Parts: sequence; C-alpha cells; structure tokens
Amino acid sequence: MDEKFYLTTPIYYVNDKPHIGHLYTTVAADVIARYHRLRGDRTRFVTGTDENSQKNVEAALKNGETDIQAYLDRMSANWRDTWSALGISFDDFIRTTEDRHKKGVEKFWNAVFANGDIYQGEYEGLYCTGCEAFYRENDLVEGRCPIHRKAVAKLKEKNWFFRLKKYRDALLAHIDAHPEFIRPASRRNEVRSYVDKFMEDVSISRETVRWGIPVPNDPKSVIYVWFDALLNYMTAVGYGTDDAMFAEWWPADVHLVGKDIIKFHCALWPAMLMSAGLPLPKSVFAHGYFTVDGVKMSKSLGNAIDPKDLAAKYGMDAIRFFLLREIPFGGDGDFSEERLRQRYSGELGNTLGNLMHRVLSMTDRYFGGRVPVNAGDGAATIADAWQAYGKAMDDLDFFAAVEVVMGIARAMNGEIDSQKPWELAKTDMDRLATLMYRHLEQLRHVAWMLKPLMPETAEKMLAQLGVAEKDSGKTYDQAKGWGGMAGGATIAKGQPLFPRLEGEKA
Ligand code: MSP
Repeated sequence: MDEKFYLTTPIYYVNDKPHIGHLYTTVAADVIARYHRLRGDRTRFVTGTDENSQKNVEAALKNGETDIQAYLDRMSANWRDTWSALGISFDDFIRTTEDRHKKGVEKFWNAVFANGDIYQGEYEGLYCTGCEAFYRENDLVEGRCPIHRKAVAKLKEKNWFFRLKKYRDALLAHIDAHPEFIRPASRRNEVRSYVDKFMEDVSISRETVRWGIPVPNDPKSVIYVWFDALLNYMTAVGYGTDDAMFAEWWPADVHLVGKDIIKFHCALWPAMLMSAGLPLPKSVFAHGYFTVDGVKMSKSLGNAIDPKDLAAKYGMDAIRFFLLREIPFGGDGDFSEERLRQRYSGELGNTLGNLMHRVLSMTDRYFGGRVPVNAGDGAATIADAWQAYGKAMDDLDFFAAVEVVMGIARAMNGEIDSQKPWELAKTDMDRLATLMYRHLEQLRHVAWMLKPLMPETAEKMLAQLGVAEKDSGKTYDQAKGWGGMAGGATIAKGQPLFPRLEGEKA
C-alpha cells in the first residue's frame, strides 16, 4: 500500500486519571493504527494531553499545589505512562504546554489575525469550566450546565472573537460534498443542523484567566483553550516548527473523538483551518459513550474504572475485546465487569482459547506435534473472510471485524464436533491430515486478523503455531495468502490463551 496515514485521539484533560471511557477512544485509535501499519501504510498515531484548561488549574489548586506546571508535568506523565503500560502504540505524545505547540499556536493566531478573522468585542455570557464552553440561556437545564449540572459562571470580558459564522456556507458545502468528513452519518446531521441554524462567532480569548498561551497581539489575555487545543493536531506534526514534517503528514486522515466534542471538531476546527487556508482533516469519527453499570461515569460518583486495575485482573486483550465487541462502533453502551467476565469465559475462553487448545492438542496427538504435509483446501473461504474483515476495518466497524474472526472460530469448533477427528484417526488419516492442516492454517489467519484487535493474543497464537518468527515483520499482503503453515514444521503448544479466572468453576 505505502500510503501515509495520520490518526489522532482527543488530547485529554489532566485534572484526573484516565478511565475506561478515555481508554475506549485510545484503544480504538490503537486498533486503527496497528491495522494501517500491517497494511504497510506509513502510519503516525498521536495522542496527548490538553493542559491549558482552567479545570486543570483548579484541580491543582484544590490539591494544594501552587506550582501548576509541576502538577501538569506529573499528571501528564501519568497519562502517558498509563497508555504505554497498556500497550498503546502511539508514535508521539503532544502536550499543549510544550514549546513546539506554543510556537504553532502563535503562528496560527497571527495568520488568522492577519486576514481579518479575529476582532475585538465585549463578551457577556455563561461559561461552564467543566466543558470549557459558552452556553446560551436556553441551553441550560434548570439554570445549570446541561452536561455537568453545575452552576455556570456569568462572564463579562473584553475578548477576541473568531469570525466563525463567516464560514457557515463553506462548511455546509464541505459537509455535503464529503460524506466521509463526519462519521457516522447520524452525527453528520446533528452537526449540519447546528452549523446551519445556530453557529455564531466565538470568543477565542479570556481576559481574566491567567493560565494558557498569551494572545500574541494582546499578551494580557490568554487564548481560549479549545482554540489552542485543536491546534495540537497540527503542532504535533511540525506546524510552526518543522515545515517538511508538516507537509508530509498534514492533513490528518482520521480524528477519532467522542460524540461529546463533535461540534468543536466539525464546525470550529474546519472553520479555523479554512481561515488559515489549510487543508481540512479527511474524516472525523465520533464514537459513543460508555456508562458503568448503567450510570454515567463521574469523579463525584467515584464509579470511574481505572484501566490499569482492570488490565491487571483480565489482561489488556480481554478488555480490548470487550470494548470492541460490546457495542457497534459509533453507538452507546454500558460497561460492566460481570459482562466482561462472561465474554472472557465465553467467547474468549470457550470459543477461541478452547479451539486453539483442541487443534494444537490433536496435532500433538495424531501428528507428533508436526504440521501435516498437506496443502489443504481453505483458500477460497479464507479469501472471503479477509474481504469481509478488510471492509469492516476500513469502515471502522470493529464489531463486524470481530464477528468475522469469531465466525471462523465457531465454524471450526462446529467442524471438529461433526467430523470427530478422534474417529478419523482410526479410519482415515489422510482426511484427518487435510482437516488438521486446514485448521492450523485457519488459526494462523485468525491470529493475523487479531493482530490489531488483540495484539498479545495474536502473538501468542503465532508462537504456539510455530510461525511467529517466520510471520513477523510481514504486511497483510505478504501474510494472508493460503499455505503459510509449512508442512513438517513443529508447533509449540503452550499455556491456554485465556486461563480460567479465579473463582471460576473448572
Ligand atoms: N481536552 C478535550 C479534548 C480536546 S481535543 C482537541 C476533552 N478532554 S477529555 O479528557 O474530557 O476527554 C474527552 C474524550 O474522552 C471524549 O471525547 C471521548 O473520546 C473520551 N471519553 C470520556 N468519557 C467517555 C465515556 N464515558 N465513554 C466513551 N468515551 C469517553 O474533551
């Protein structure tokens, strides 16, 4: 393939630790990045932290910390370390307090200022620090922020404004001409109607806030945190500091975001880029929200689940599987540890783990642990499966991609039950050899399909099939032909892929 592929997650506020909701976005991005690397694309996957937010400052002060930068350094390191510990394969981690980011933001402000899209005005309005967003009176629910249900602050400041409304028609035209710009389609309509009916110019500076990037032409004010934060997508690939790098990677291929921040990404952000004369990202995909046991996750309720605790208990691959399998990507869903355990023992343990165990045990028993020499006959079926898998992955339909894999596993288990290899071993060794070769080879393909979805499991499978070394470093195109298992090669049956959970009955 060798195309470039640049993918981002939102940059997260550091006023708290990562929870399962943040993990969801980050895991999904990791799946996409791994998939593109395996296709042979030049891939860049960037995540990071959004640090110039008032709520970070408030959290530091509440914690008795007056050295704000030290607080941000510590909290941001925790996000980065968490993602590393959980096997997230990001290529870069951008922080909005870094110099490279500030330089890019200043360059951008100056460009937009120079072409007349920034003007000074008086702002009087309602502000929620939780959202870092302005509200109108009729957005409020019982006089409070509709998301956080907290009181909003009445602000009256002299601010700099961005001529967002000027880009209304151009935005609508872009949305209509590029259906892939906002995905899924249901979100497109939501954004379109906002741009069409409600979008107004926005205040992009704060006079009373002390933490943030100073406005270049008015250093007493700081730049509004969203205007600053969105620019991370460009400053992370050299905007303002490395022109060659920027030319290589921009525009982004996919911004992955939660549905909560779609308007910022599909209205404000493209308008900012239009104003600066820069290309727009090719696609913004907004996924749904997870609740926990039916309840919204929140710091105050204390029900936010720490991904590290969960990974220590179940392994990261089981969590990845759960997140991708529980809800079709784009929809909303619920996280429950009980259902995670069910999926672990059911689909992972009984279907996939058990299948691997059966096929390897029979190879040991009937063929002395060697792959039978037999080209087999599965080429057409596996080619169909790859086609369905590829389409699902290209569409970010991870649910469907997982289903392709599980479908193969279920069919194989069914075949073992009906063909009864233990009887064939007494009557027809040739047929048994054909069946075993095909199953070993199918498992190799399953492992390859699992590489982006459940990378540790995929590697374990390839190791047990005895082809880890041979298959490592290959792209999909090199690995997905039929016949990768070499007749006569030795398998290495190891530990179960999904050992029984503590407290689970044998
Ligand atoms: N800092 C801004 C984003 C700036 S991007 C230029 C921000 N940060 S955040 O820390 O609040 O993270 C929001 C993102 O985290 C959501 O868009 C979503 O991707 C993810 N999620 C947070 N809670 C979530 C759930 N409960 N469920 C699914 N995703 C969740 O907004």
